[in-house]
Amino acid sequence: MKNVIAPSILAADFARLGEEIDKVIAAGADWIHVDVMDNHFVPNLTMGPQIVKSIVDYGVNVPLDVHLMIKPVEDMIKPFAEAGADYITFHVDAVDDIEATIKLIRDNNCKPGVVFNPEVPLGNLEDYIDDVEMVLIMSVNAGFGGQAFMPEVLEKVQQVRKMIDATGTRIRLQIDGGINVSTIHQAAEAGADTFVVGSAIFKSKDYAKTIGALKRASGD
Ligand code: DX5
Ligand code: ZN
Repeated sequence: MKNVIAPSILAADFARLGEEIDKVIAAGADWIHVDVMDNHFVPNLTMGPQIVKSIVDYGVNVPLDVHLMIKPVEDMIKPFAEAGADYITFHVDAVDDIEATIKLIRDNNCKPGVVFNPEVPLGNLEDYIDDVEMVLIMSVNAGFGGQAFMPEVLEKVQQVRKMIDATGTRIRLQIDGGINVSTIHQAAEAGADTFVVGSAIFKSKDYAKTIGALKRASGD
């Protein structure tokens, strides 16, 4: 399965959001990652469904990967789905019923994914992994861009890689937080195939050069 680079617009210039997205897509971005924070599940506040809708209306046609860092989750699924999200991922510790939330996302015609912060154990992921399209292992504590990569999560990435391989299906293994040209290689070696990259892309001068270097370093 092809590796995916998903720039996180959290690190973009919001006053020029459409332009920034055009630029990263022209530079080789595969998806756009949208970080939704609520100042409750995480201590930061970012974007709602209207931003997703604006991105779609602007004409962006790569997959929109909506990472919910909110609690409660359930009532916000429909608005994000209607706004045009393709993937919707949620933190397992933000919901009462993981499998019901996965189903709700599917019922809204989006691809469901589950997210694990560094200290959150995988729990019974093996029992329901077949129902998701993506597993996201956080390599920083969710809440802010620009934090340092935590190599201790690589073991969890390896465990999930084994679980996914055992299913024989094409479930994506995403990593998010502190990914740059030097850390992406370790993440790829551990088994990640989908890489969220915020500051390393948007704070760089030449997006195409950076995305090219990230892809090469990921083994593509
Ligand atoms: C953190 C977010 C990340 C973040 C990544 O809570 O989920 O997507 O924006 O940013 P960098 O790449 O700067 O760590
Ligand atoms: Zn994210």
